[in-house]
Amino acid sequence: MNKSVFLLLCIVMYLSIIPVSAQKFVPNYDESKIPAYTLPDPLIFENGSKVRTEKEWEKRREEILRIFESEVYGISPAWKGKIIPALLSSEANALDGTAVRREIRLTLKNGSKELPLVMLLYLPKTSERSPVFLGYNFNGNHTVTDEPGISVTGSWIRNNVSTGAAGNRASEAGRGKEASRWQVKEIISRGYGLATIYYGDADPDFDDGFKNGVHGLYDQQPDDSSWGTIAAWAWGLSRAMDYLETVAEVDPGRVIVMGHSRLGKTALWAGATDKRFAVVISNNSGCGGAALSKRVYGETVGSINESFPHWFCENFNKYNLKEELLPVDQHQLLALIAPRPVYVASAEEDQWADPKGEFLSCVKASPVYVLLGKKGFPDTGMPPVNTPVVGSIGYHIRTGGHDVTLYDWKQYLDFADLHLKRK
Ligand code: GCU
Repeated sequence: MNKSVFLLLCIVMYLSIIPVSAQKFVPNYDESKIPAYTLPDPLIFENGSKVRTEKEWEKRREEILRIFESEVYGISPAWKGKIIPALLSSEANALDGTAVRREIRLTLKNGSKELPLVMLLYLPKTSERSPVFLGYNFNGNHTVTDEPGISVTGSWIRNNVSTGAAGNRASEAGRGKEASRWQVKEIISRGYGLATIYYGDADPDFDDGFKNGVHGLYDQQPDDSSWGTIAAWAWGLSRAMDYLETVAEVDPGRVIVMGHSRLGKTALWAGATDKRFAVVISNNSGCGGAALSKRVYGETVGSINESFPHWFCENFNKYNLKEELLPVDQHQLLALIAPRPVYVASAEEDQWADPKGEFLSCVKASPVYVLLGKKGFPDTGMPPVNTPVVGSIGYHIRTGGHDVTLYDWKQYLDFADLHLKRK
């Protein structure tokens, strides 16, 4: 064997022992290496004709929604079941007497199948019906504030040292550990309520073959376009909304759906599929959320499908390393929310989530808002850090990393005031 054949053999052998994943999905963080891409125009029908009126947009909206369902998140079933609420606890003087706090078990009943979800609800003390933020938490309701009365929720929890979860069960050690991400006192003092549910109650965050969580409410043989876990979580938010509509102190016309990271992707999909959400907030949602997939920057379609095979529908795998073939991109997800206000937040150090791709999504969703009579989102390039751009679409990039901070909440509350505050 000559020397060069030997060398070649060595390289082939070396490559074959590197895991396929490591060979395939190397994240790009270099703007100059972004492939040339063309984004599908939200205002052009699949047959090439232009969307000119609000009525035509409604048709185009359906078209885009169907593509996102069959190719990205999966199709969720229609809900024909019952929700049976049961009050588990009630505190009339929570948060130093400024709020009412309740825990409510919502039993979702579909025929003989049942699933309990526990909602933690804080409401400001006022005689008016309150606007409410609704979002999932990552580690159990008791992690959201340090108030002792909240019961420890969360099975199917990810083992997480910081929140004291062990053996996939939440524990007392997690109490208050996520308080900085929720800022309940600030929310209440600004006149808003907060409703939250542990996300794993709605669907556990692993590939369980459709057995648990809301998937388990249906006898379903999953196919390539069946609802993945993000769609299941979003569907669960719609069930939470069904309940909030029945709460006397809540204004059902002013429910703001909000989520961070994978739950930001979820909030966007919930806002796109359920028009009852008056405002939608995506915090650092990144790939499969607000960031454009076709930029192939940071986390990519192939890498997210490999790490989280249960999040999207099977069909989404067709676009692994082939983002150019995607018939939709995430600016169209934002456009599905129009004309309702949507806020996208990025963080400077969270390059994995592609802040610029999130910003560009706002820019590219803007024409739909304009068609619907709203002020467009200015295409003036990335704003400086900690300088929100606010209209019907809001955007900021703050300093720091992948997180939800008081700064983020202040912008969301201002945004909600701008759009929902009764004058
Ligand atoms: C991972 C994942 C992201 C996701 C994030 C989260 O980083 O790659 O897509 O947003 O987890 O949910 O925390």
